[in-house]
Amino acid sequence: MESLTIHAIGLVIVVKLVLNPVFCLSKCDFPAIFNFGDSNSDTGGLSAAFGQAPPPNGETFFHIPAGRFSDGRLLIDFISERLGLPYLSPYLDSMGSNFSHGANFATAGSTIRPQNTTMSQSGYSPISLDVQFVQYSDFQRRSQIIRKQGFFQNLLPEEDSFSRALYTFDIGQNDLTAGYKLNMSTEQVKAYVPDLLGQFSNIIKYIYAQGGRSFWIHNTGPVGCLPYVMDRFLVTAAQIDKYGCASPFNDVAQYFNLRLKETVVQLRKELPLAAITYVDVYAVKYYLISHANKLGFEDPFLACCGHGGKYNYNRFNKCGGKKVVNGKEIILAKSCRNPSVRINWDGTHFTEAANKWIFDRIVDGSFSDPPFPLNFACRRMDH
Ligand SMILES: *[C@@H]1O[C@H](CO)[C@@H](O)[C@H](O)[C@H]1NC(C)=O
Ligand SMILES: *[C@@H]1O[C@H](CO)[C@@H](O)[C@H](O)[C@H]1NC(C)=O
Ligand SMILES: *[C@@H]1O[C@H](CO)[C@@H](O)[C@H](O)[C@H]1NC(C)=O
Repeated sequence: MESLTIHAIGLVIVVKLVLNPVFCLSKCDFPAIFNFGDSNSDTGGLSAAFGQAPPPNGETFFHIPAGRFSDGRLLIDFISERLGLPYLSPYLDSMGSNFSHGANFATAGSTIRPQNTTMSQSGYSPISLDVQFVQYSDFQRRSQIIRKQGFFQNLLPEEDSFSRALYTFDIGQNDLTAGYKLNMSTEQVKAYVPDLLGQFSNIIKYIYAQGGRSFWIHNTGPVGCLPYVMDRFLVTAAQIDKYGCASPFNDVAQYFNLRLKETVVQLRKELPLAAITYVDVYAVKYYLISHANKLGFEDPFLACCGHGGKYNYNRFNKCGGKKVVNGKEIILAKSCRNPSVRINWDGTHFTEAANKWIFDRIVDGSFSDPPFPLNFACRRMDH
């Protein structure tokens, strides 16, 4: 019986080997996800600490605000679904959280580097990547102490989950806009990118030192195609590319991504047991925005949820923004009629429909280095 099984498996292996060498390995069995990032992957961290994302956020999928800046699911939610794991509870959320299969340390507005401005001055979250790591570290240590005392066994991860988990990252976009908000030139922003990546790299090394082995890293998106950037910063006609995006900001994003990729190559050398996947989310998002109509989407540069302005985006009256009329509160910045055909949700973030489209492109490894599907992300190239 056993040898029969082995033969059958062997046959499958031979067939699949022809298609992609990674398939000679078995799928990974990730028991948990630990996520670090900004609003692109925040499932409720900022909401828990600083106030809920208002309606109509969440309207499409959750039907109530769900801590996400979107009408529905984010890439991280689709990742959780595909790995057969529950949606990630935000580490900061003290109500209804279940961390048995991971935790989310991301908060909207997070940066890699701690900012020297307060949140009320600049809008950036004080929970920068270094703080997210401290929280993770604390979570890892204390969750095991508490479990050993016999409490919350069904709410906290098992000990070996930390070494077997998938560690996901989507952060950097806000570090790039932070310099522009301080009136820096593109050259000045580029000049601090090595510092950003040095700090990012340190965090990966710290997690590795605590047992983390599988890392899934999204590069940063084409921020120059987003209304909140095009509306906020002066862009001349000559700086708009043939699809309508602001080139200087995309150039900086691509520069960041180039250096991020080099950082990943270096990390693989320094961390021999780590499997690190670099995912080119930029390429997928840019393709989606630049070929929107062909792909069945409409108005890639208009925020679905917003009020006024060239892009249906007004930074003083964002998605969900209210106004009192005759003593009654009304939502001024409302959702568009059909978010399922729109890409941009609120001027900054993507709709669930766009996130799903992006996820479907990245899940099979087509945009990854190494080109392994999501559920093989624990495998190293040299294995
Ligand atoms: C904040 O200030 C410190 C000390 O001057 C500096 O080292 C650091 O790079 C600054 N951070 C940012 C994000 O500008
Ligand atoms: C937490 O979630 C896991 C997986 O969905 C489930 O098995 C467990 O019972 C949950 N814990 C509680 C206390 O509900
Ligand atoms: C940036 O420049 C604008 C316009 O000149 C000015 O109003 C603003 O105060 C400057 N911001 C900083 C942080 O220097």
